[in-house]
Amino acid sequence: MAVFKSIFFLLLLDICKCAIPGTFWHITDQHWDPTYELGSKPEAVCASSGQRPAVNPGPFGDYVCDSPWHLINSSVYSMKQIMPDPDFILWTGDDTPHVPDQDLGVEKVLHIVRNLTHIIKKVFPDTKVYSALGNHDYQPKSQFPASSSYIYHQIAEMWSDWLEPSSQVTFKKGGYYTERLLNRIGYRIMVLNTNLYYDQNKLTDNMEDPADQFHWAEQVLTDAAHNKERVYIIGHVPPGFFEKKRSKPWFRPEFNQRYVDMVQKHHPVIQGQFFGHHHTDSFRMFYDSEDHPISTMFLSPGVTPWKTTLPGVTDGANNPGIRSIEYDTQTLLVQDLVTYYLNLTRSNLGRGGWEKEYRLTESFRVPDASPGSMHWVLQRMAGDRCYLQKYYDFNSVSYDLSECDAACRVDHVCAARAVEFDGYRDCVDEEGAGVVHGASTAVLISMAISMFWWSW
Ligand SMILES: *[C@@H]1O[C@H](CO)[C@@H](O)[C@H](O)[C@H]1NC(C)=O
Ligand SMILES: *[C@@H]1O[C@H](CO)[C@@H](O)[C@H](O)[C@H]1NC(C)=O
Ligand SMILES: *[C@@H]1O[C@H](CO)[C@@H](O)[C@H](O)[C@H]1NC(C)=O
Ligand SMILES: [Zn+2]
Ligand SMILES: [Zn+2]
Repeated sequence: MAVFKSIFFLLLLDICKCAIPGTFWHITDQHWDPTYELGSKPEAVCASSGQRPAVNPGPFGDYVCDSPWHLINSSVYSMKQIMPDPDFILWTGDDTPHVPDQDLGVEKVLHIVRNLTHIIKKVFPDTKVYSALGNHDYQPKSQFPASSSYIYHQIAEMWSDWLEPSSQVTFKKGGYYTERLLNRIGYRIMVLNTNLYYDQNKLTDNMEDPADQFHWAEQVLTDAAHNKERVYIIGHVPPGFFEKKRSKPWFRPEFNQRYVDMVQKHHPVIQGQFFGHHHTDSFRMFYDSEDHPISTMFLSPGVTPWKTTLPGVTDGANNPGIRSIEYDTQTLLVQDLVTYYLNLTRSNLGRGGWEKEYRLTESFRVPDASPGSMHWVLQRMAGDRCYLQKYYDFNSVSYDLSECDAACRVDHVCAARAVEFDGYRDCVDEEGAGVVHGASTAVLISMAISMFWWSW
């Protein structure tokens, strides 16, 4: 089947130089909680709630809990039902529950990663999967070493069907790898272990280039340019800031800057970046020195509905989400995103299942998901409250439908606009000031434009 598909593909490429659409899945942050059990008292439904009461527990989970197996299972089978034969699957990690390290242990972590690997393989036996480690896929969590380790080795073995031999080598050394995308000449994927840059990782504190990953990645991108390749980059922890909490980055400052420099230098070959970790649905823009949009990082929503305990975030839960991505197989340009979700409340009542939440081009009125279009989306979010609200509803996968107020607007606009630390600070200053001085006019004008747009 796969062979026929590639032959068909090559034939098509030969006769027609037009765009040939392809699709793939991006799933992330499943966070399976094996302790989830109905019938217990609210504080004891799941270990990941950390004693917070589960007020509406059902077969698909509860907003204070990580995923029960039933939710994981239903997400993978619904992927199969919605799009049974994707070109490939991106899986960006975080498989284990939010519980203290001492409640897991190395073997438990590996066991959970193995179970999730198993179900994806079982349901998609012939599909190539590109898989990145999340900060929860280690023990102790987030403490990824800059050299080879037992866990890197074990997971490389577990994923050996998905990894080329050369990928296995680098994965065992530092949890990262690169391969030709679907083994096609001219196309490449680079899977990063950005957990090495996470400020919670004590093992890489004071290191200049942990596991040599930046040096390696820059070489991969340089070679890609020489070989006229187009590249997708995937990883778990993203650079830049969390949009639900003001001034909250994940990377250490030097690592954040080096990542931005890398994208600015190599953007002509980078056709898309796909990350997770936030559990929310958002995106990050990268600009060149003249402020032209050069690249977009898409942050896909998580499968777990788990309400974050991060101080300063109120009601940070989400509905479970999965995402399909439509792309031009010749340029790797991202054409569209379709997000599917489960209304957890409704599904627990037996009145719903996985359904389409939205399609980017329809809901945001753009022709595609190119950096230019995503820049336009961002500018419109900054100036048009209705448009911003739509983005905000989707940000929590239609869980939090409350109003995105002035402070919320700054949080979301600046996180999407500025991945660099200085740029983010400037954005917060400018946009924050804008709220007091000039926003109402800007909002009125863009509302007028938007009304025109919709009626047209
Ligand atoms: C997983 O979902 C499939 C499809 O709905 C179902 O047939 C199967 O019994 C489920 N397995 C478990 C363990 O829930
Ligand atoms: C997880 O894997 C173990 C074996 O490693 C197996 O016994 C167990 O049934 C699996 N659990 C699920 C829910 O698939
Ligand atoms: C989810 O379902 C609940 C219960 O039926 C409903 O009140 C809520 O409006 C639904 N949310 C969305 C976004 O449809
Ligand atoms: Zn996560
Ligand atoms: Zn994470």
